[in-house]
Amino acid sequence: MAISTRISQALQSLPKTELHLHIEGTLEPELALRMTERNGVTLPFNGLDDLRSRYYFADLQSFLDLYYQLMSVLRTREDFSDLMFAYLTHAHKDGVRRAEIFFDPQVHMNNGLDYNLVLDGLQDGIARGRDAYGIDAALILSVVRDLPVESAQTLLDAAAPRANELLAIGLDSAEVGYPPELFEQVYERAAGMGLHLAAHAGEEGPSEYIRQALDVLHVERIDHGVRIVDDPALVERVAAEGIGLTVCPLSSLRLQVVDDVANVPIRQLLDAGVRVTVNSDDPAYFGGYIARNYTALAEAGLPMEALATIAGNSIEACFAPEEDKAAMRAELDRWKAEYADLLA
Ligand code: ADE
Ligand code: ZN
Repeated sequence: MAISTRISQALQSLPKTELHLHIEGTLEPELALRMTERNGVTLPFNGLDDLRSRYYFADLQSFLDLYYQLMSVLRTREDFSDLMFAYLTHAHKDGVRRAEIFFDPQVHMNNGLDYNLVLDGLQDGIARGRDAYGIDAALILSVVRDLPVESAQTLLDAAAPRANELLAIGLDSAEVGYPPELFEQVYERAAGMGLHLAAHAGEEGPSEYIRQALDVLHVERIDHGVRIVDDPALVERVAAEGIGLTVCPLSSLRLQVVDDVANVPIRQLLDAGVRVTVNSDDPAYFGGYIARNYTALAEAGLPMEALATIAGNSIEACFAPEEDKAAMRAELDRWKAEYADLLA
């Protein structure tokens, strides 16, 4: 269904947070190729068209193969700063007031980079975003679950001295065969470092992984989590406990989790009272930044009231201080007054 320009502008300006975004997943193919030249790195592609032709994914793993391959172009503090600033520029245009952003240090460390160089570059990009746009951003240290658990502990060793610069811990990468319970001690240690807790679960993997993330890792948010619909009792529990679900519609479409955006179970979960949010995951790979995810849902027939509820959920589910949440709620109220005709 086509939507009006006014609806699409309203969704772009809708005050929102982004809670599920991998900074490495914002590496656009043009920027990746520019970085190969700037850093003297080679990639096995024959220019932009050849690279672009690889952006068709059969499943999560086929995406991850390209994602990790392109990450090898990131070499310097400036690369990470530029990547972050480019994302925050998109996010600001899309009405994002606050972004909680995953990064995958184990992969960069395996590429020979120092953890502190990566963190310095990302923090520099965040400071540039704050100066240019007033946008608020914070980092989620993401554990690559298909690397050995000892590698996650080594990551925490590297992260500990500057743990105060991190917001949360996350768990990503290939899901099936890597259940959350493997990371019980890692999460216990991260909690002891004062980090918030989130984990990817129920993206391709079973709803049992969502249960484990809640019961064993004690997460406050579930990333993706769409497979929760296989377990109605778990849906009820997550709704009652106010656990945020960071759903990523274009990601689920492009990774063949669903065959149509309309089949991402957002309406069903909202009706059950689940705190559903909408996010872009890896926008350079999946065909759109966050506002495009909102408009895709509108095109699939999700009413504007539901999309406004989702933006409100994104404010409630974020890990910002209460006064910042209150300011975002007030902005959302002003937006609702301005677009009251679309919400009727
Ligand atoms: N890393 C980057 N994007 C991811 C996703 N959608 N699922 C798991 N790991 C990821
Ligand atoms: Zn993700």
